Amino acid sequence: MVVDGFDKTEPLGVALGMTKEDTISYIPFFVNKYLKEQVSVVVKNADDEMVAVQLCSIESRHQQQSDDLYAKLKPTAKALRVLEFLVHMENDIWSLVPPDVNHILKLQITYVRPDYTGRGIAKQMSSMRMDTARKLGCQGISTTSTNAITQHLRLKEGYQPLKTVMYEDWKDSEGNVIFRMKDASDRAILTFKRF
Ligand SMILES: CC(C)(COP(=O)(O)OP(=O)(O)OC[C@H]1O[C@@H](n2cnc3c(N)ncnc32)[C@H](O)[C@@H]1OP(=O)(O)O)[C@@H](O)C(=O)NCCC(=O)NCCS
Repeated sequence: MVVDGFDKTEPLGVALGMTKEDTISYIPFFVNKYLKEQVSVVVKNADDEMVAVQLCSIESRHQQQSDDLYAKLKPTAKALRVLEFLVHMENDIWSLVPPDVNHILKLQITYVRPDYTGRGIAKQMSSMRMDTARKLGCQGISTTSTNAITQHLRLKEGYQPLKTVMYEDWKDSEGNVIFRMKDASDRAILTFKRF
């Protein structure tokens, strides 16, 4: 479901003109990695079809980062552009959250099937699994929002911006803007909310 729709709906992928091949080169890896987490959410309709996901993980300040991620993934050039940007957004998160915060719930991928958007599903999913995350020791919740809609939602929910990058400022080595946005999204925001 996510592969089917992400290239046509997620603003960074749309800006790059991603194809299914680009999406397949990185999204399934993350879906497989996070779907099994007990803090992830899957929404199904009455016909038992999956219509939305909120894929999450629990991240800890002192955990070892895997450095062979790209080797495992083999992303296409466009997928690599997105991954590099997301790494830039999140690589200093532990210096941006309050110093006493050591474990966070991280919203990794939020996706609602296009025929189910605008019904409050993303909003509902964002309040789920909070108790589980707290019981597992999380002190807050964080996400990078690349989409103007999720940014509106997170800020309304009381998340604080930790870092903002305007897409017009994110350029390649020749000075060209990488993400030429096709919708109202003009920035990415890393946000955090304490429980
Ligand atoms: C972004 C996305 C998750 C939103 O899901 P959704 O279920 O339609 O969102 P909701 O219906 O819960 O709406 C959340 C808020 O955004 C607003 N909103 C929803 N669609 C909107 C639109 N097209 N334009 C402006 N605002 C919109 C809603 O009004 C609501 O705000 P409110 O509480 O002030 O009324 C969904 O469109 C999607 O999966 N997009 C593609 C993948 C993506 O970009 N994921 C996020 C990457 S960070």
